[in-house]
Amino acid sequence: MQLRQKSITKKPSSLKPQVPIHVAIIMDGNGRWAERQGLPRLAGHRAGTSNISRIIRFFANHGVSYLTLYAFSTENWARPDHEVRGLLSLLGEVIHEETQSLHKQNVRVRHVGRLDRLPQQLQRNIYDGLALTKDNTGLTLCIAFDYGGRDEILEAIKEMLRNGISPEHVTESVFHNYLYTRGVPDPDLIIRTAGELRLSNFLLWQSAYSEYYCTSTLWPDFDSNEVRQALDAYKNRRRRFGRVLED
Ligand code: IPE
Ligand code: IPE
Ligand code: MG
Repeated sequence: MQLRQKSITKKPSSLKPQVPIHVAIIMDGNGRWAERQGLPRLAGHRAGTSNISRIIRFFANHGVSYLTLYAFSTENWARPDHEVRGLLSLLGEVIHEETQSLHKQNVRVRHVGRLDRLPQQLQRNIYDGLALTKDNTGLTLCIAFDYGGRDEILEAIKEMLRNGISPEHVTESVFHNYLYTRGVPDPDLIIRTAGELRLSNFLLWQSAYSEYYCTSTLWPDFDSNEVRQALDAYKNRRRRFGRVLED
């Protein structure tokens, strides 16, 4: 018993984080940003969308390997029709305008979430973008669009049942392979902008040991300085993973 205790108090290097391997962001506050400028909500979504390319660059320059951006939740379908249509059309614009540039930056794009409820043309454009960038070796960018953590878990369970997986073969690593994020390491750091302190159905399974960082800054104003502050905060965390640390 004592010997065992000794071994679990030893400090593995992973408990002293430096740069997170995977950062996931809940990009919130576009509506409030627009409201503050007396603009319609969609103007906020446009400003938020144009912030994305520079943020990708900042995180890539800091050495982050995986970046997941929460762009549209399974609950966001309940927003007014014109807002949902506007968000879908912004996604179409981004794919059209940014895919080539991401490809040139060696970024590999992944989609996490459902594709089946998106308009057919948008689905085709997404598949083309994924195929074009699939062999890139730089940053992996996961776009969470029509993503919900509960939906992801239910879909994984349904697929395991369809495949006839028996209970004794259900392990964490088997389950991971049925998630939209299969092959992507769990997020080390989850950032939420715009002040809310909740997950809003984001990466429920994957966030078991993620570090959280919340800022009141609205997403369109989240800049290089904010990126640095979030990464600095992460460096000062002590990730215990349930163990006892010596320091
Ligand atoms: C985040 O901004 C974008 C989406 C959820 C699609 P919001 O639209 O939620 O902005 P607020 O929270 O109303 O300010
Ligand atoms: C979370 O923001 C979803 C995205 C950023 C895509 P919401 O604005 O939808 O979250 P709630 O409604 O405040 O929880
Ligand atoms: Mg919001």
